[in-house]
Amino acid sequence: MWKITENSFDPASQNHKETIFTIGNGYLSTRGALEEGYPGESRASFVHGVFDDTPVVFTELANAPDWMALSILLNGERFSLARGTILDFQRELDLRSGLLTRRVRWQSPGGHVATLLFERFASLADEHLLALRCQVIPEFDGEIEIRAALNGNMDNEGLTHWLHVSQRRENWETVCLQTRTRKSGIALALAMRLRGFDSPQPDYWDVENVPTLRQVFPARRGETVTVTKFVGIATSRDSDDPLALALERAARPQSWDAALEAQKQAWEREWERCEVSIEGDDEAQIAIRFSLFQLLIAAPRHDNRVNIGAKTLSGFGYRGHAFWDTEIFMLPVFTYTAPQIARNLLDYRYLTLPAAREKASAAGYEGAWFAWESAATGDEVTPTWVPDFHDKKKLARVWTGDLALHISADVAYAAWQYWRATGDDTWFAERGAELVLDTAKFFAARAEWQPERGCYAYSDVIGPDEYHDHNNNNAYTNRLAKWNLQTGLAILDWLKNNQPGKAIELARSLDLNAERLSKWQDVAEKICMRVEPDGLIEQFDGFFALKDIKLADYEPRTRSMHEIFGVEAANEYQVLKQPDVLMMQYLLHNEYSDEQIRTNYDYYTPRTDHTYGSSLGPSIQAIVACLMGDVEEAYEHFIRAARADLRDVRGNAGDGIHAASAGGTWQAVVFGFGGLRIHADGSWETHPHLPQHWQSLTFRFYLHGQQHIVRLENR
Ligand code: BGC
Repeated sequence: MWKITENSFDPASQNHKETIFTIGNGYLSTRGALEEGYPGESRASFVHGVFDDTPVVFTELANAPDWMALSILLNGERFSLARGTILDFQRELDLRSGLLTRRVRWQSPGGHVATLLFERFASLADEHLLALRCQVIPEFDGEIEIRAALNGNMDNEGLTHWLHVSQRRENWETVCLQTRTRKSGIALALAMRLRGFDSPQPDYWDVENVPTLRQVFPARRGETVTVTKFVGIATSRDSDDPLALALERAARPQSWDAALEAQKQAWEREWERCEVSIEGDDEAQIAIRFSLFQLLIAAPRHDNRVNIGAKTLSGFGYRGHAFWDTEIFMLPVFTYTAPQIARNLLDYRYLTLPAAREKASAAGYEGAWFAWESAATGDEVTPTWVPDFHDKKKLARVWTGDLALHISADVAYAAWQYWRATGDDTWFAERGAELVLDTAKFFAARAEWQPERGCYAYSDVIGPDEYHDHNNNNAYTNRLAKWNLQTGLAILDWLKNNQPGKAIELARSLDLNAERLSKWQDVAEKICMRVEPDGLIEQFDGFFALKDIKLADYEPRTRSMHEIFGVEAANEYQVLKQPDVLMMQYLLHNEYSDEQIRTNYDYYTPRTDHTYGSSLGPSIQAIVACLMGDVEEAYEHFIRAARADLRDVRGNAGDGIHAASAGGTWQAVVFGFGGLRIHADGSWETHPHLPQHWQSLTFRFYLHGQQHIVRLENR
């Protein structure tokens, strides 16, 4: 159960499949577009950190030059699935090794038949190396012509980010291309080295921005023609001389087999850290491996200046911007299975603290308020307006960049969780503590005393449930702010006892005087929260007074409640895009009794748009259902999350992987069904709730540098 397969070519679903068959190595990803190109494709490679300016959404990952371009002509007829007859088609992504394979038997309009086998991978052993091999087995005698190129003419759905710099033939088997982004000025170099083109030497076609090597091979029935393309890639973010780096990496591999062997070994090491196996449920098994694979190929191994976008590097959706999706949904996977990756991602937040301080200060507050959508610099890049659901010619205002405070607490929470799981005191003292303290400072500054209620309020906010904006005292925001303030105070004590020098330094640089700290204490103690006598928590002030809703009355439906009601009207109903109070109870579940969680679960679950609301919701819903012991219900939510991309349940998987759902799927398996609980003292235990049809569940995680492998069986 390691392979994602496809047995026929369906042009209608090709964009979805391009997302599914994305390959990558934590440095770049390439969507599963076909080598030879196809009308309507969404062909793209994205390199971490290579952003460029764009209207409306400020900045986006620039679609990098195409390294795969390969044309094959059979007796002068160009191979294309848009023509001729597809006699056989199989595609498979081997999650174990990251190798994508396609085998096509094709008949040209002129009647020439050949089997073509394409293989490609982005090397995990050398992140600056990409490899592609094509084998053609003709069923005719004649000629096979192969043209291999680097194509610098790529754009982001019509907008081009690249300025051609230079190109040349480096030696008889290698050509290179240099280009740079228009506004951000990032230089990118690619070097393509071909193997299999030995005698006679290939022709070099110096096509502007598309350096091409071309060779004609004699075709003999049944005899395989093999061409291997190694591409080195580097940018000015990696080196002062990206071209030299790209050339060096393209020249390194001895052979396809050697490069693939290194790739397999690198992946084996990855899976040793995080493999999950589920016996008795093939769909869950493949989905969890797919989710992990998608996160792993997007995870920066050697760069702490980048974050993972909500759609990873696998599509144009959200333009490469990162959200709380990283900290709350993806980071736990890395924190517990690949702490070094988690640290890189947290470093990104540390390094973008100046922008977070700037955002807070521009709004009139001190401390750090992180961008809701964050890219290269950490500046707020949430678009202010997007096309309206109902009338794409109209614009709808997006409020998250102005109103979502909770992102600051989410970042602090993730830093603290990493510290607790790894025991990495050095990093925490150097960087993590400042994340928690400066966000606490922001929450203390942003709180407003409400004399009539005798509590501190956060008014005019938006919580995780984005069907409601401009509300006061969102429970998730308030409770997480309280946690952030309390944790800030506790951390300061820890620093004083363990790293007194650092405690003094931070107290000075953040101006943490006694008066300020006592305000933190006061805000934390008196934060507004409406709780009914039975423990039911109101999602925000006035939520219970909104019109109630029976979602069943709107079934069957294929649209979200947001689309059905419209952006404004959704605010008037008790309908949630995703769990909000429950999300908070998951993150802080030691603070709540099972009974209180149950009360809230029973109230909010039927009012949540599980099917078409946020893709972030189902996994969290599954975990809380497990906490309640409702395993069947948990499974229903879990499988919804697990299918998000593989089955394209929301119809938008073509825009890229739902990365938060992938992270949530892992959390649902490990913390939900596996019931893993980590205690403050570093001990752990499991409270498993395995679905009935699962024979066993095995997962791995690290605590304080030590790996634990847990096998749970259903008896
Ligand atoms: C969700 C947010 C999420 C964003 C990016 C939105 O639709 O409501 O919670 O952060 O998508 O995935």
